[in-house]
Amino acid sequence: MNTELYDKISGLQAKYVMPTYAPNMLFVKGEGSYLWDDEGNKFLDFVTGISVCNLGHCHPNVTKAIQEQSEKLVHVSNLYMNEQQPQLAEKLVKQGFDGVAFFANSGAEANEGMIKFARKWGSDKGKNEIVAMNASFHGRTLAALAATGRSQYRVGFSPDMPGFKFADYNDIESLKALINDKTAAVMMEPVQGEGGVMPADAEYLKQVRELCDEAGCLLLFDEVQCGIGRTGTFFAYQNYGVEPDAVSLAKAIANGYPMGAFIVKREYEKTLTVGMHASTFGGTPLASAAACAVIDTIVEENLLDNTKKMGAYLTEKLSAFVEKYDCVQEVRGLGLMIGVVLDQPAGVLVGPLKEAGMLALTAGETVLRLLPPLNVTQDQIDTAVELIDNALAEI
Ligand SMILES: Cc1ncc(COP(=O)(O)O)c(C=O)c1O
Repeated sequence: MNTELYDKISGLQAKYVMPTYAPNMLFVKGEGSYLWDDEGNKFLDFVTGISVCNLGHCHPNVTKAIQEQSEKLVHVSNLYMNEQQPQLAEKLVKQGFDGVAFFANSGAEANEGMIKFARKWGSDKGKNEIVAMNASFHGRTLAALAATGRSQYRVGFSPDMPGFKFADYNDIESLKALINDKTAAVMMEPVQGEGGVMPADAEYLKQVRELCDEAGCLLLFDEVQCGIGRTGTFFAYQNYGVEPDAVSLAKAIANGYPMGAFIVKREYEKTLTVGMHASTFGGTPLASAAACAVIDTIVEENLLDNTKKMGAYLTEKLSAFVEKYDCVQEVRGLGLMIGVVLDQPAGVLVGPLKEAGMLALTAGETVLRLLPPLNVTQDQIDTAVELIDNALAEI
């Protein structure tokens, strides 16, 4: 039986919200690793808004930062400075390579900016092509979509923006065959998310860097999903010791407050200058205050360590299912970005898990994707593993 609230909201949704999604659950409250629906049912959340609420729901530090900042100053145009944005830029840069940041509002917008950066850099060198990866996902705006290897998302929106080619992920020969004098950049996720939780091979990523250096083109990493501590290092590329020339971020950067960013290395700090790129809401005091609280909390609460430990623990527990169940092919991932690869569409597990009080999602066709908060506890992981075990036993 639906609640009155559910009936009211789903009625409004059906009538007034464009049907680009098909939601069938209504959440009214979140705290830490848990969500509550309109009926008061509690769910262990291993989706975290698709790697957005990396600190768990309504983390008190982020809530406090948003509350305090919203009483002080919410927005001024980027025609003026605000106190928070440059401090956030410094915090982000100190976590990775030296450089400069541009702030936007989403992953797609961060990637659009990063693509513009690469084109601008290549514009006086005769380089304007970008080699992206098959099975990649970079967002739904037109340039990000043109860089997205999952071509089904482009159907109906032709013509595609020109200038993008696609190599096979983890296949250096495929990339070599596509790079030429016109290549401005190679663009990729260090761990593919939507494509099926597929980490780059360590040797491959080193070779990609070498190839870009030899060809004189840029290497762009999209860390919208795998960044901000998700893989056990602040930036996913730090697992590999391979630095890009630019990196994009979004999703977890402000734990649910909308924000995106891309950071370019110091040597490219003047590639985009006054008037060349802009975003009204990019890096507002409010968004920046939330993001500063996120980064400080990751450091203060030692969440990278917890991510590594809990990621290894969850991976080990799940790996036992490869032996136990014929339908489980492989467990893969990095840190707390984990995929359980099945021999059939992974959607079959999502419903039973939901019934049992746990949220998980799919990636690609056959991968069950698990993205718990970075402060997840061992007890919560034990519960999740037991629920997945039960769900697997049923199929
Ligand atoms: C790797 C990657 N890049 C870009 C995006 C697009 O981000 P947004 O939905 O914030 O535009 C996503 C979203 O899932 C993503 O996973």
